[in-house]
This record gives sequence, C-alpha cells and structure tokens, in this order.
Amino acid sequence: MTKSTDEILIQLQKKLNAFGFEPGLTNVGTVEQMGDGVVTVSGLSKVAMGEMVEFEDGSTGFAFNLDEDYVSVILLSTKTAITSGSQARKTGNFLSIGAAEAFLGRVVSPLGEPLDGKPGIKAAKMMPLERIAPGVVLRKSVNTPLFTGIKSIDSMIPIGRGQRELIIGDRSTGKTSIALDAIINQKVARGSRRKQVLCIYVAIGQKQGNVAQIVDKLGEKGALSYTIIVAAGASDGAALQYIAPFAGCAIAEYFLQKGQDVLIVYDDLTKHSFAYRQLSLVLKRPAGREAYPGDIFYLHSRLLERAVCLNEKNGGGSITALPIVETQAADVSAYIPTNIISITDGQIYLESDLFNAGIRPAINAGISVSRVGGAAQTPIMRKIAGPLRLDLAQYRELAAFAQFGSDLDKATQTRLDRGARITEVLKQTNYAPMRQAHQVAIIWAVTNGFLDDIAIDDVSRFEIEFIEYLENVEKKLIDKIDKEEKLTDEIAKDLEKEVIKFKKRFKI
Ligand SMILES: Nc1ncnc2c1ncn2[C@@H]1O[C@H](COP(=O)(O)OP(=O)(O)OP(=O)(O)O)[C@@H](O)[C@H]1O
Ligand SMILES: [Mg+2]
Repeated sequence: MTKSTDEILIQLQKKLNAFGFEPGLTNVGTVEQMGDGVVTVSGLSKVAMGEMVEFEDGSTGFAFNLDEDYVSVILLSTKTAITSGSQARKTGNFLSIGAAEAFLGRVVSPLGEPLDGKPGIKAAKMMPLERIAPGVVLRKSVNTPLFTGIKSIDSMIPIGRGQRELIIGDRSTGKTSIALDAIINQKVARGSRRKQVLCIYVAIGQKQGNVAQIVDKLGEKGALSYTIIVAAGASDGAALQYIAPFAGCAIAEYFLQKGQDVLIVYDDLTKHSFAYRQLSLVLKRPAGREAYPGDIFYLHSRLLERAVCLNEKNGGGSITALPIVETQAADVSAYIPTNIISITDGQIYLESDLFNAGIRPAINAGISVSRVGGAAQTPIMRKIAGPLRLDLAQYRELAAFAQFGSDLDKATQTRLDRGARITEVLKQTNYAPMRQAHQVAIIWAVTNGFLDDIAIDDVSRFEIEFIEYLENVEKKLIDKIDKEEKLTDEIAKDLEKEVIKFKKRFKI
C-alpha cells in the first residue's frame, strides 16, 4: 500500500482512457514547468477554464490557459516548492470566496482570508467569483437615489442604486476620497428606519499602509461596521490583484441575494488592468493596444455588468458600482479609460488644475455626467439643481471671456459674482458628507441670489453658520425638507424667510 491515491488514479485513468472513457472529476496531470507564478501542467485534459487546481504540496491555483497539450495554472497560494514532475489535480471547483455577515467590519484577501490579524471568518455560503450578470428580465430601472453626501455630486451628477458611475482623474485628485465619502454617508442614524446600504471597498494594487489608513478612517467615522474591505496589495502579485474585484463582487452578490443594497468601490481598475496585462504577457497571450490583451474590455464589462437593480420579484436588492480609473496627464482617450467610460453609466471627472486651485472636490461639472441617476433623484434636489447647472455653465463661459476685458456690464458682473459664490458653496472638505436637507438649504440660498452680497471669503463661514442656525433654531424646516419630496411653495417661502432672518445675524 505504498502507492498514493493519485498514482492509482492515474493508472486507472490510463486504463479507462484506453477504452475511450474519460472519467470526470479526478483528472490528474504532471507539472512540466514553473516560473513567474505560472505552472504548466500536462495531462489535465478535463480541466475547465477558471477551475481550481491543487498541487501535491498543497499549493493551489486556477487554470487560465487551455492549450492542446498543456494547461497553464496561475498560482494563488504556494506552500512549499512545486517541482517539475510532481502531480497536479483538478478539483472540480471554480474560483469562489466565502461570504457571510461576519465579514462586515473586516479586511480580507480575495481568497477570504483575514488580513486584519483577527480570527478567521466562517463563511455562510461560497460565492463564485465569475458569474453571468442578471438578465434584463430580472432587473428594474434605477429609481432610488444613492446619496454620496457630496453637494456637487448629489445635485448635478446624481447616482442611483444599481448604477455604475466611474470616478476618473489623475493621481492625487481626490478619487478615493469621493468613494470613501460615499461610504461614510451610508451610515444610518440609530433608530432611523432607513435601510442600511452595505459597502465593499476593493483595494487593488495599493500600498499596505494606504489600505491601513483607509480602514482607520472608516473606523473613525463609524463606517466600518457596515463595510467589508477586500485588499490585494501591490506586493501580493498579479493573480490576487486580478481576482480581487471579482471577489468583492461575489461578496456583494451574497448580500444582493438577500435583497440588500450594496455599494462597491473598485479602487482602482487601472491597476487591475496592469495585473491582467502582466498575467497575459507571462502566458504569452498576444498583446494588443498598449500591450493589453484583446479581451481586457470583456474583463471589465463582465465585472461591471454585475452591478444591478433587481425587481421586487427577485428580492429588490441592488449593487451600485463606483469603479475608479487613474489617468495620465488627464488623457481620457487612452485605452483603459475609454473602455471603462463606455461601460459605465456616467463619469465624475476630477482635474488636477481644479484641485490645485483649491476647488475640492475637483469635479469638472461641465463634462461629468450621470446617465441614469437623474431618474432616481428626489424632485426637490432636481428642482434645485436645475438653476445650479445653468448658472455654473454660464459662469464658466463668461469667466473665460471676462479675463480679457475689464469693462463688464452689470448683468455679466452679476452672473460672474453668482458663479463665483456657487463654486465656493460647492467646495467641500473630504470625510464630511452632508445630509440632503442641508444641501438643499444652502444650494437654494445661493442659486436664489441670497449670497450675492456676501464676500467670497465669507461664503464658507456663511454656509456653516447658516446650517447651524437651521439645525438649532429652525429644526422644523430641516425636518420638513427631509419629509417632503417636492420643493413646495411653503418650503421655498420658509427658506426665504429664514435666509433673510439669518443674514441679519450674520457678522461680516
Ligand atoms: N475635498 C477635499 N478637500 C480637501 N482635501 C482633499 C479633498 N479630497 C481629497 N483631499 C486630499 O487630497 C489628497 C489626495 O486624495 P485621494 O487620496 O483621495 O486622491 P486619489 O486621487 O485617490 O489619489 P491616488 O491617485 O494616490 O489614489 C489626500 O491627502 C486627501 O486628504
Ligand atoms: Mg486613491
């Protein structure tokens, strides 16, 4: 009895093969070559694409290339050294990750292992990493807003649950901050009957320190209890980085199946593309534009297609995706940015120039769009955002023109003043999402000209004190805005009354 089961299986298989019979599940092969995290195995004739393969020493990987004579397996975890001639066995399982409520508040690897030094997590269900996105019959159109708490986004680029909104910009333009604010803003006040939106933050190819900072920040803001962080760091290798967003999405689908709403952030898909390109080049797949493999578009579209808003018959849950893409010198026409722009339902463009000029969040409102979120916007926000967009567009046009002349007529000067104040009001520090009623109050005030006579430098103080005033003195109005869907004449009148009252108190 010295023969291992594998050897017996190989012999058995050979015999069966001689009769033209191929057994299904226990196909065993031999390692031919190994290097760069890729193992070439011969004899694994029945393995399927993406199937998990186990090696003699306990290492695991997944089949990534199926050639005529051999299979290339990408290693996910290595135990001891895999030597050529050793055995590899197909497992019949596809790449999957465990998911459970216990994952909330935790930092895990794309394989579901804890990275936060706390004990392992018991999975309630295994979720496949790759899955066909729900078809159109299971879906309904986006109709519920997902508030980010960021004034310029909620008013002008509204996001709906189930939408895919791209955050795109150069290095250090505040991309991650916007996504984190959106997560922090999902916090539900104790006792509130609002349904909790669960959040998943997928960190791809980031430095460990960066991820640690993000986890700290979320903890500090009380957002960790409803958030899961899936991290594949820069040092983790291309294979883990490649599967990370799919792992995050699989966990999101676990909650989706329970009818819950999930917000998932992929930070960022540029690094994800690098990882996929690296794997493909190692496997000698033909390189296409910018050396990316030809199927990279398909890679991201099948990931983002899984963002969904299910109809009531199917639980009514949703997955809202916020992919992030980093551009070089604001070049959105590079390969990966154009791909992902065409897959998503809208983009939030961030610009270094604006960021450096102190306009933060550095959103270029002129070219940022949200194609489906408008349908989900609350009527009160939609009403208020109308003049905001118009005023800003006019301001941009005039400001470019007014640089050249000093003699401006009164109407133009008023437009410029208004635009400057609106720009000031739309500035917002990070980690400080704002509730909708507050946004409505201040945007209403500025677009209706009540800040025109306030000096630019005083605008942000005006905003803070005005909100404070409403909260402390006129809480009723805030509650009314919260409750009322529409901008009624009554609310408009009350707002006007309160702004005028407050302006008398405001010290210049
Ligand atoms: N609205 C804001 N107000 C003030 N500071 C901000 C704002 N948004 C971001 N920042 C600051 O700008 C810096 C860069 O932000 P962030 O990390 O979000 O950018 P990023 O685009 O994700 O960068 P990277 O390209 O490195 O991933 C951070 O120090 C952050 O605190
Ligand atoms: Mg970032």
